[in-house]
Amino acid sequence: MTFRVVAVPLLLIATTATAQVAAPPPPAKVAPDAGMPALPTWTKPALRGAWNDTKRTPDARAKALVAAMTREEKHALVFGYFGTDFPVSLYIAPKEALEGSAGYVPPIARLCIPAQFQTDAGVGVATQGGAKNKRGRTALPSGLAIAAGWDLSVARAGGAMIGDEARRSGFNVMLAGGVNLLREPRNGRNFEYGGEDPLLAGTIVGEQVIGIQSNHVISTIKHYAINDQETDRNTGNSILDHSAARVSDLLAFQFAIERATPGSIMCSYNRVDGTHACENSWLLTDVLRTDWGFKGYVMSDWGATHSTVAAVTAGLDQDSGFPFDTKPFFGAPLREALAQGTVKPAQLDLMSERILHAMFAQGLFEHPLQQQAIDMPAHAAVSRNAAEAGIVLLKNERNLLPLVAKAKRIAIIGGHADKGVLAGGGSSLVYPAEGNAVPGIAPTTWPGPIMYYPSSPMEEIKRQLPGATVRFADGSYLAAAAALARDSDVVIVFGTQWAGESFDVPMALDGQQDALIDAVASANRNTAVVLETGGPVAMPWIDKVGAVVAAWYPGTAGGAAIANVLTGRVNPSGRLPVTFARSVDQLPDPAAPHSGDVVYREGAAVGYKWFDSKALKPLFPFGYGLSYSRFDTSGLRASVADGTISASFTVRNSGAVAGATVGQVYIAPVAGGWEAPKRLGGFAKVSLGAGASQSVSVTVDPRLLATWDEAGHQWRIAGGSYRVMLADSAVDVKQTVTVTVPARTMPATWRAR
Ligand code: BGC
Repeated sequence: MTFRVVAVPLLLIATTATAQVAAPPPPAKVAPDAGMPALPTWTKPALRGAWNDTKRTPDARAKALVAAMTREEKHALVFGYFGTDFPVSLYIAPKEALEGSAGYVPPIARLCIPAQFQTDAGVGVATQGGAKNKRGRTALPSGLAIAAGWDLSVARAGGAMIGDEARRSGFNVMLAGGVNLLREPRNGRNFEYGGEDPLLAGTIVGEQVIGIQSNHVISTIKHYAINDQETDRNTGNSILDHSAARVSDLLAFQFAIERATPGSIMCSYNRVDGTHACENSWLLTDVLRTDWGFKGYVMSDWGATHSTVAAVTAGLDQDSGFPFDTKPFFGAPLREALAQGTVKPAQLDLMSERILHAMFAQGLFEHPLQQQAIDMPAHAAVSRNAAEAGIVLLKNERNLLPLVAKAKRIAIIGGHADKGVLAGGGSSLVYPAEGNAVPGIAPTTWPGPIMYYPSSPMEEIKRQLPGATVRFADGSYLAAAAALARDSDVVIVFGTQWAGESFDVPMALDGQQDALIDAVASANRNTAVVLETGGPVAMPWIDKVGAVVAAWYPGTAGGAAIANVLTGRVNPSGRLPVTFARSVDQLPDPAAPHSGDVVYREGAAVGYKWFDSKALKPLFPFGYGLSYSRFDTSGLRASVADGTISASFTVRNSGAVAGATVGQVYIAPVAGGWEAPKRLGGFAKVSLGAGASQSVSVTVDPRLLATWDEAGHQWRIAGGSYRVMLADSAVDVKQTVTVTVPARTMPATWRAR
């Protein structure tokens, strides 16, 4: 199912602004939601036991508590409800659930086990579509935008901010931490994830989860696994060679889980090797628990459970989002299975233990929820900062950007840039406190509404360039837009692609926007394009325009972030977390996405690895991004100790303005033998004042040197020479040194210290 934005033709509205527009007052703190149900009052534990002893490990506490629980209490813990009324199924959410929320698991009063209040998602506290009242909250830029920052501290700060909003809104479980590898640029949910490289995605998403959980909120890494498209998402069958999966999709999860120890993992809708992910014992038990040692619980995606005995046996602990499944599999059918002996009581104990383990480990018992005011101005700054870190300058000829004082007549065209910035659709949608800046664009119901956050890039540009005349054309009429462009010194045209959950999208801007950009750029070569997209798009007009800026979905403060980059208040420092192909013909499967069997023949050669191995020249490579400054990297050295490669180098800002760059280290076995010539082995974002330099070192996780030996169930590093490359992107290697690495195998359970 593909939704298209319906452009409503409007007359060209040319606004002339010469006077400086006053900055709007910052939004006040938000009080707990008026009209929304209050949280149940917390009572001190009446019944005390070893589980109350905070000096004990979460393991010991969980075991002690399970031993004190009745069978019915355990049943209550493993079964979750959708938190929002769902008229289609005549479903009324439990009255204690927080209105508009994703999920609710009731408390167990006798033992003072807190309720689990679950909210989506990775960009902030979402409200589900059907809810009457929407929580107005802060949205971070998309997950892909955060990955484009390549900045660990930005990712963590963003997670900490949304985790704080979750807790203050009354939630203690956040369904956040999307780390599906960007294998398919047309996947409608790419904006929720961390890009195409397992190291980058796993590290950035891991940092976000650490931030969320610092608020005593369980974070749920999702959607496990190989759930890389939305087409046919409930029955589609992902087929990916297991050795390839271990060094691609699974490795991204593994890195994130290892780094952050999330309380929970959400299994996905799709099948893997013919078996639904939520009843796939290879994923849920063999890989996740046996090999990776995961101790938290697995929850199903909403409607992703398809059985009772098979799911329980495979390792599913909590059945989420009743009534989305075809049956309440962990309700009455689980009671029946226990009665018949097809599920053993010990298994229900184990499931309960894993849920309680996460609740103890994240401090849910010791930190009861209390709705509290949110510091919206401070959170807006966190979101803006993250958006600025992730905006990527892709092209900048003749120094078109930053906009300089001599640009007196500026045309702004399209993308509703006079009103706001676009957000992605589906369950992750955060509603802004000030409402939709462009209401009414279809679809207005789930996975819509199409949401524009009221943060207008145009208004910000006017504020920052008071001496300029800024005029707007909405882009509905090509001739009018071209006429305005012709009559301006510089043109900024906004191109949008609305993507969201439950549908895939063409690798292109929506509607007629390619033609619009072409017409505008033909009229004025000083055209800069700002893209607000879910992921990569083709740019048939690329040779005609002077500048291109990828702003992704930039969040509730996105307009200010875009303007800051365009005017040079902020020096762009984002780097692509995904390859931009010239056209779908360059992709492993130009005809994708498919229904039914989804065969990933490219194996682990995802993104730049595919382009590298096929010697294809992308439009813009992974790792690429420009700056208003100039950075030189030099002095690469590499050494090997205990089989681990470390590399060090110097970064110097030789330009005239402060900025940041990303030192990227790629590794390549001289003898070959990997899925692709090279892999990203490490990276570091470095901020430097003009003229400053800094030395940087990175260590390469040995699993990034290994292939997965499926028969031997281990990691295997081939001994020999490896190139260590310092690069500005996946195609721009600046310096190479060669090291010798000894042959080595590592058990499946190997983890970084
Ligand atoms: C999505 C999940 C989400 C859940 C609860 C599902 O449709 O796939 O990502 O957490 O809904 O809203």
